[in-house]
Amino acid sequence: MAEAFDAVDIIRTKRDRGVLTDAQIDWTIDAYTRGAIADEQMSALNMAILLNGMNREEIARWTAAMIASGERMDFSSLGKPTADKHSTGGVGDKITLPLAPLVAVFGVAVPQLSGRGLGHTGGTLDKLESVPGWRASLSNEEMMAVLRDPGAVICAAGSGLAPADKKLYALRDVTGTVEAIPLIASSIMSKKIAEGTGTLVLDVKCGSGAFMKDEENARELARTMVALGQDAGVNTVALMTNMDTPLGLTAGNALEVEESVEVLAGGGPADVVELTVALAEEMLAGAGAADADPAAALKDGRAMDVWRRMIAAQGGDPDAPVPKAAEEHVITADQDGWLTELDAMAVGVAAWRLGAGRARKEDPVQAGAGVRMHAKPGDRVTAGQPLLTLCTDTPERFARAEESLEGAWSISSNEPTALAPLILDRIA
Ligand code: URA
Repeated sequence: MAEAFDAVDIIRTKRDRGVLTDAQIDWTIDAYTRGAIADEQMSALNMAILLNGMNREEIARWTAAMIASGERMDFSSLGKPTADKHSTGGVGDKITLPLAPLVAVFGVAVPQLSGRGLGHTGGTLDKLESVPGWRASLSNEEMMAVLRDPGAVICAAGSGLAPADKKLYALRDVTGTVEAIPLIASSIMSKKIAEGTGTLVLDVKCGSGAFMKDEENARELARTMVALGQDAGVNTVALMTNMDTPLGLTAGNALEVEESVEVLAGGGPADVVELTVALAEEMLAGAGAADADPAAALKDGRAMDVWRRMIAAQGGDPDAPVPKAAEEHVITADQDGWLTELDAMAVGVAAWRLGAGRARKEDPVQAGAGVRMHAKPGDRVTAGQPLLTLCTDTPERFARAEESLEGAWSISSNEPTALAPLILDRIA
């Protein structure tokens, strides 16, 4: 069968800053998904999009075509509102773990379809797989059963959801074309719209450990995604949050599960608690439960109760200890003073090199590998005190992890006057 368009013409149009028609976009996504556009042609088109951008209409059509490449889910039979959160990816970002059960406490179902880590950012499924017995893959029926009770499910997106994105994302990852606003926005929103959540709260990361390094680009990404969600009838808001420094005091799979459990037990680092509660308030308000008090449900054990039932429903043992790395290496402060910086990207790369992340999709991850932080910017430190503990089962990795941490922190003899806020903006 003759193809409706020629991929080379479409690449040339974008290369020369032209605008693609709806028919060209529909054909491109469909033809790439069924293999009629070669990877090298799609790579060239992705690079042209990264360099020359897309207008709002093109992004909306590209997103719609990706949704149409697969199935759409429908949670209407649950008989309760649904709310989901998606982060654009950061270091130490374990928020989904305490957040999903916390929101479910208030009768709002949380269908959290999650992914695995690639590169320096961690993946929610990799983290949860460090819980003994827990499994990420559920059938649609199993997923609906967990959404009914206990009300929150964190699981892998099935292969039928936006298959075009699965193929495109893997290609972007190896061709230096991840960081394009139209491609990130359409990738995230196609999955979330196809998933069928009623409310969506986006956590758009901004800073050294994020895809978007500066506020202007992060704001543009947030606005683009919010507009795509609203146009598709999904109640969407975005918080723009700081990712110059890691979230919490851990980066690594089992380490982050332990910290999440501390938060669910009413403790944990202040920034993780602050962001969990802020995102929960947005999800609950969007789902019609604005008077709920998520901070109280973290403190009094109600969120922990849902967490335990959610883990058990997917075969996990909430009481089993998570794996610990076989080897540790401590890095100490070389002077007295105040920690003024701890770079998120450097910590993320160190955790990845220690074995917490993967270089290729099929690589295994080490459950216990990662970085434990003993101080955060603003904390007083003394010479010789531990700053970071590096954890791995394979000690030959320490040297490369230490290399990535060179120059990653600053200690000043002056107390910092103001620290950057965690929540930078709200876009609705
Ligand atoms: N997360 C996604 O799902 N897609 C992107 O393009 C970037 C982050």
